[in-house]
Amino acid sequence: MSIAAYRVVDTVGFSLIARDERQLFADAWRELGGRAMEIGTFDGCTAAEVCRANPGRELWCVDTFQLFPSCVSNWLANQVDNMRLFVGHSPMLAAVLPKAFFHVALIDGGHSYEACKADLESCLHLVAPDGTILVHDYTAKCFADAIPVACQEVLMPNGWTLENSVGKTACFRREPAI
Ligand SMILES: C[S@@+](CC[C@H](N)C(=O)[O-])C[C@H]1O[C@@H](n2cnc3c(N)ncnc32)[C@H](O)[C@@H]1O
Repeated sequence: MSIAAYRVVDTVGFSLIARDERQLFADAWRELGGRAMEIGTFDGCTAAEVCRANPGRELWCVDTFQLFPSCVSNWLANQVDNMRLFVGHSPMLAAVLPKAFFHVALIDGGHSYEACKADLESCLHLVAPDGTILVHDYTAKCFADAIPVACQEVLMPNGWTLENSVGKTACFRREPAI
């Protein structure tokens, strides 16, 4: 994948997600409607691109910005009308928002087993049962098995199944209740 795939027009900084994976996020959101969430937003370049493709719908971005505090200024420079920011961890948001507040979530925050598990558990509360959960770096070798193991433990027992993947991003949906 060339470096150009990580550049987003009219933004400063970088997306850390390749173009075809950003397209997956934008398309899933367009198909499902409602609100979307991105856990781990970094410079906000991915957020800006998917928001431009889905005008009039809110994307809530969640980030601690602990490791890269300078990302905040890039995020704010990249902010478009429908981008919202929550600084903190996803369980804090899950504690205050109603169930099924979002239709799509992209998980790309902390990449340890514990952090990914916490984000997945937040999504069980926050994402509608007919929604989609996208997990970035699902197949990335550098995180060993932390991310797939967390998905297996949290998503699969709750009826979410791996539907497909694009690049390193896995797409989970839930079987409709019979
Ligand atoms: C890989 S980057 C996200 C890239 C972004 N999704 C994009 O498309 O460019 C990971 C981000 O997650 C944030 N982060 C790390 N641990 C986190 C956590 N436990 N909760 C929320 N955000 C976290 C980091 O501050 C960083 O900005």
